[in-house]
Amino acid sequence: MKITIIGRGNVGGALQRVLSAKGHDVDVLGSDGGDAAAADAVILAVPGGAVEDALRTVSGVEGKVLIDATNPLQGRPDGVESLSALAKSIASGPTARAFNTNFATLFEQAAEQGERPTMPICGDDEAVRVAEQLARESGYDPVVVGGLEHARALEDYVGGVMIPLVMERGPFFYRFDWPER
Ligand SMILES: NC(=O)c1ccc[n+]([C@@H]2O[C@H](COP(=O)([O-])OP(=O)(O)OC[C@H]3O[C@@H](n4cnc5c(N)ncnc54)[C@H](OP(=O)(O)O)[C@@H]3O)[C@@H](O)[C@H]2O)c1
Repeated sequence: MKITIIGRGNVGGALQRVLSAKGHDVDVLGSDGGDAAAADAVILAVPGGAVEDALRTVSGVEGKVLIDATNPLQGRPDGVESLSALAKSIASGPTARAFNTNFATLFEQAAEQGERPTMPICGDDEAVRVAEQLARESGYDPVVVGGLEHARALEDYVGGVMIPLVMERGPFFYRFDWPER
């Protein structure tokens, strides 16, 4: 798959390494912009406050499968339901939220775990299918929560649950598990 990652920081850098190692053709763009026209999927990995700017600076994102990994650590613009909804309103294609509730410093260790850590995902069907594939290839067990209307909850989970825990105890994996039926 041809993948363009927008954002070359902790998330973008780690995903570039993990997904390239799986044989994908990965291009990474930073704040100087670029073109995503050749991409089969675009992963958004910029600060929450830069979502709109990033998607308007990079050409060729219109209609693309978009996987949003951003978090609203500095809040959301007024009237915006979720950063993923904002991203979809600009890029206009099938949109999923994934990778945002997992720690970038652990992305490269996920595949070494005895049991796959969970990655909650939500969004539009076509984008969810791609996100599930990339999550699995990255060593995670994707759990689909539902449509993009769940994006706000997955965004708020980070500030409400993940950040307090990481501050106290460092980066961690977690696993949603269901009893045998
Ligand atoms: N760190 C984590 O564990 C983690 C995990 C899941 C999700 N997230 C979320 O993922 C996002 C990225 O986190 P990060 O830790 O990777 O951040 P980071 O290390 O600070 O990297 C952010 C990247 O975004 C780029 N950027 C900033 N403004 C941009 C713009 N207008 N257009 C294009 N690129 C722009 C920067 O590019 P330049 O280098 O060119 O300036 C930088 O490489 C955040 O929303 C964060 O909340 C983080």
